[in-house]
Amino acid sequence: MSLKDSIDQTRLPQHIAIIMDGNGRWAKSQGKNRLFGHSNGVSAVREVSEGCAELGVKYLTLYAFSTENWNRPILEVTGLMDLLLKTTRSEIKTLQKNNIRLRAIGDMDALPASTARELRQAIADTAGNSRMDLILALNYSGKAEIVRAVKQMAAAAKAGTLTPEDITEQMVTDHLYTAGIPDPELMIRTSGEQRISNFLLWQLAYAEFYFTEKFWPEFDREELYRAILTYQNRERRFGKTTEQVKEEGK
Ligand code: FPP
Repeated sequence: MSLKDSIDQTRLPQHIAIIMDGNGRWAKSQGKNRLFGHSNGVSAVREVSEGCAELGVKYLTLYAFSTENWNRPILEVTGLMDLLLKTTRSEIKTLQKNNIRLRAIGDMDALPASTARELRQAIADTAGNSRMDLILALNYSGKAEIVRAVKQMAAAAKAGTLTPEDITEQMVTDHLYTAGIPDPELMIRTSGEQRISNFLLWQLAYAEFYFTEKFWPEFDREELYRAILTYQNRERRFGKTTEQVKEEGK
């Protein structure tokens, strides 16, 4: 039986989040520069997006650029922004054909105007698509996202439309970039690093983490299936005991 056939379709994660790591090291291993790694990373994005949509995953969030990534060498940053622009432009047809909705989380206003414009256009053009949401975390920081939510609630409190007693977990959730999107059940990080790196800090509270030594450009459909199978073999207890979970599953 192939890996894909072993996946239990009734227990698919509806939201997968990925920290795409290792483009630079993969490029180095090929004797190439870092941007070569990012370009090959785009092929992996395509492959994994298609793999997720085919399986029936409803949301795929990819960490494409963190607020900390601005500290990289200027040529790498401009190269990445250019790659984003070109990829968005070249992939829009495929997104439409596959009924995939492009979304973004993070502070888009700080991106180069041309990249932001292209992305906003693709987001608007695909807004009606319903098979899967492909969510790019761009200029994203989990801490900044929470601070932004707190500021919005503080402003409402100052305006007299909110009291501290009104604040609930759901309210915080509703003020995040990801409002309305279910939390990821599975978070994958490639390249052997085992950190969360300021990614979806609130939303990953109960996610299963899957780490692989593969560099992002090497991550393909088979690797995706492996991650999902590992997730399906985990017991998700949400603070309960194994016995309670088994009893509920009957
Ligand atoms: C991490 O590898 C990768 C990034 C910071 C950028 C990810 C971008 C892409 C895959 C291409 C563009 C994406 C889209 C969605 C079109 P790294 O550079 O940190 O690798 P290293 O740790 O080996 O240096």
